[in-house]
Order: sequence, then C-alpha cells, then structure tokens
Amino acid sequence: MIHRVELIEPLSPLGDVDARPPMSDSFYNKYGGSPAVAAIVHDFYTRIQEDSGLSSYFEDVDMTGLIAHQTNFIGKALGGPEVYEGKDLKVAHADRGIDDDAFSAVVGHLVAALEAAGVEEPDCKAILELIGSLRDQVVTGG
Ligand code: HEM
Repeated sequence: MIHRVELIEPLSPLGDVDARPPMSDSFYNKYGGSPAVAAIVHDFYTRIQEDSGLSSYFEDVDMTGLIAHQTNFIGKALGGPEVYEGKDLKVAHADRGIDDDAFSAVVGHLVAALEAAGVEEPDCKAILELIGSLRDQVVTGG
C-alpha cells in the first residue's frame, strides 16, 4: 500500500519540473505508467479542443507535437522516466495572452481527464498542487 505522505511530500516545492524532485515512482506506476499518462494527456487535449472558449489559443499549434511534449512533461513530473525536451514553460506560453480564467479552464479539463481515468481524489489533489505551482510560468496576459 502506498502511504499518502509519500505521494504528497515531494510535490510541494515543485515549480520548475527540471529543477525539483519528481513525485515518487510508486505514484507513476500506481496508475499504469507511460500508457496511462499518454491516455490522460490525450483525453485532456480532446477536452481542451472541444472547449470553444479555449480553441483560439491553440489555432496555430502543432497539436501532435504539443501532446508529445506534454506527455513527457507530465510523465516526468509524476516520477516517470520520460525526458522533457520541449521549450521552457515560460517561453512556450509567452505572448499568448493566457489569463487566470483560461488557466482555470485548462486545469478544469485536466481534473476531468484525471477523474475519468480513475485517479483517486488525494492523488488528483496532489497533481493539482503541482500544476497550480506552475501558474506564474503560464499566465502571461489578461
Ligand atoms: C496548466 C498548466 C500548463 C502546463 C503544465 C502546460 C504545459 C505545456 C507544455 C509542456 C507545452 C509544450 C511546449 C513545447 O511544445 O515546447 C505547452 C505548450 C503550449 N501551451 Fe501549455 N501548459 C499549461 C497551461 C496552458 C494554458 C492555460 C494554455 C492556454 C489557455 C496553454 C497553451 C499552450 C499553447 C498554445 C502551447 C503551444 C506553444 C507552442 O507550440 O509554441 N497552456 N504547454
């Protein structure tokens, strides 16, 4: 059995995923590792693309490349072996006018994708703490 503290502890200081300790391996493996992360990220972007309030942000974006980078980014953040080779988060989101409402909407789709995949509530909360800590790198306008 995985102890709750093990899941939450490494998360709190996360902001720059490269510079901080990832979540424990057990967290990543608990939900099925790489295929599970890929499925969650895919569902997450399906939800984003179906949201008319968000589609304008992604009009000129190569979604296949974005999904690949995001899968590695989230996999790595959850303690997996993935290597993230995308842009620095601040650079990727600069000049895109992302405001707090857009950020919250995206986070809402992530929660829905996590819940649909059966991620338990305390784990979902831990992932959201991690994502919430990245807000300042993503919210670039508004
Ligand atoms: C919730 C936290 C978020 C995280 C962890 C995140 C993470 C990422 C990552 C890893 C990339 C890939 C960068 C690359 O391909 O090199 C990316 C790109 C992108 N993100 Fe986010 N993102 C977040 C929120 C948002 C929000 C709220 C929006 C807009 C409403 C957004 C819009 C975009 C766009 C348009 C790109 C493509 C940039 C490009 O291709 O140049 N992201 N994001």
